[in-house]
Amino acid sequence: MPTPLDAILPRMAQRLRFALRRCHACRIVHKCLTDGKVYCISIIYDTLFLLLDIFWMSGERTCANDDEAVMKFKQKLRPLLVDAFHKLYYGSKRQTRHNTFWLGVPCFKCPLDLWIYQEIIFEVRPDIIIEAGTASGGSALFLACVCDWIGSGSIVSIDIQERADLPKHNRINYLVGSSVSDPIVQQVSRFVADKHSVLVVLDSDHSREHVLEELRIYSRFVTLNSYVIVEDTNLNGHPIKPAFGPGPMEAVVEFLQQTDRFAIDADREKFFLTFNPKGYLKRVR
Ligand SMILES: C[S@@+](CC[C@H](N)C(=O)[O-])C[C@H]1O[C@@H](n2cnc3c(N)ncnc32)[C@H](O)[C@@H]1O
Repeated sequence: MPTPLDAILPRMAQRLRFALRRCHACRIVHKCLTDGKVYCISIIYDTLFLLLDIFWMSGERTCANDDEAVMKFKQKLRPLLVDAFHKLYYGSKRQTRHNTFWLGVPCFKCPLDLWIYQEIIFEVRPDIIIEAGTASGGSALFLACVCDWIGSGSIVSIDIQERADLPKHNRINYLVGSSVSDPIVQQVSRFVADKHSVLVVLDSDHSREHVLEELRIYSRFVTLNSYVIVEDTNLNGHPIKPAFGPGPMEAVVEFLQQTDRFAIDADREKFFLTFNPKGYLKRVR
């Protein structure tokens, strides 16, 4: 039988938590106002915690239970922390995205996304991976290495530009030409003809029209429960490069209005930072 205390104690604990958080916030405000010599980093740290306290409390006041409070808290954190880190990471290209290598070959992907790729490949076990956009070949080599580890799969990587220095790997076939041109699509069709499991990665021209055309062409190769991964949906203010113009995200939105065969798999965004928000499209029908 629940006693009256069962109802009162959690509320008291919650009140106490509020009080402690408020004290913590007040102490920080006091410190910021009185101690002119605190280091910049310490101010940022303390201000951040103050904001967290305020968000936490305002979330809890209006929430029915702890789960809802945590959810609201995360929603508020996202623009504050995740998008800010995304902009910092993306904006520091010489330190980060133009300075990322797979076995010595430049790879223009976010490492957190590469980890997701590895999880998808392990689950889906694709017989073939079609990649539009080879560049230096770092991502193709990464995909080939994951296929090596699971013992199956090959890669067809397409780029409009021919390059002599691409990494060689017995699982990779390179095609030169536009990903949406008839000759390339015909070659890809021959590669996938006898395959049971097909995964597609779109990472070439990032204009909305091109990505939409690629989605129309390549989505038909994707097998049930596999994915078409649309790279760089973060462009055009999602949250980076707000002046980019309609890009991969806008193509995804339009594509999903035209089909119910694919759905966004938000679980693939679990590490918070992804260059592909809403870009992991799973074939569900
Ligand atoms: C973002 S890079 C690819 C990065 C690579 N996947 C990686 O992660 O390291 C985009 C590439 O797409 C190529 N590209 C641009 N337009 C294309 C098109 N219409 N068809 C195929 N490739 C294209 C460019 O030449 C460029 O090498």
